[in-house]
Amino acid sequence: MKPFATTLSFAERMITPCGQRTERRLSHMRGMYQDIAETEAILRRDDPLIYEVYAGGVPEKEGQLPHCLTVLYPGQVGDEYYMTKGHFHVAMDTAEIYLGLEGEGYLLMQTKEGDSQALEMERGTIAYIPPYWAHRTVNTGKGPFVFFAVWPGHAGHDYGTIEESGFLKLVMERDGQPVLIPNPRYR
Ligand SMILES: [Fe+2]
Repeated sequence: MKPFATTLSFAERMITPCGQRTERRLSHMRGMYQDIAETEAILRRDDPLIYEVYAGGVPEKEGQLPHCLTVLYPGQVGDEYYMTKGHFHVAMDTAEIYLGLEGEGYLLMQTKEGDSQALEMERGTIAYIPPYWAHRTVNTGKGPFVFFAVWPGHAGHDYGTIEESGFLKLVMERDGQPVLIPNPRYR
């Protein structure tokens, strides 16, 4: 492998050239938002784009540093703000760094032991996700929430655990403000 550089376009919110672009629409997140009836009502009309991920083109292998740009769009399913699916790393003892570039939101994290934490993120926030913490981002702003992430190549992504258990906390709009509430469906 040879050294290389790519370009992060702030205006276009993408990495070029991009290794892989992934789209997450509401239909990919069925059952992940609290209001299932509202999810299905939206899906009968439309399948909104919730977020996009532009990978930097680095292989997911030990010793490498894969990275990506995530663009999480503003919006809500009922009172719940748009969010990413969230995941643990398969190699649980691996960390990750998020750098906020645009917009605002929360970085929700939790451990399998039931610890939970929410960090507010904005442009310039360097958030550190320690080993063993699952992570999800939530857009609480009016525009796209954009951040850059770097993680160890052998980390791997476990989405299934979160799909089954959910997150401990939900980020909901109450009187125009984001509030964190316990997830009644967490198990
Ligand atoms: Fe991760």
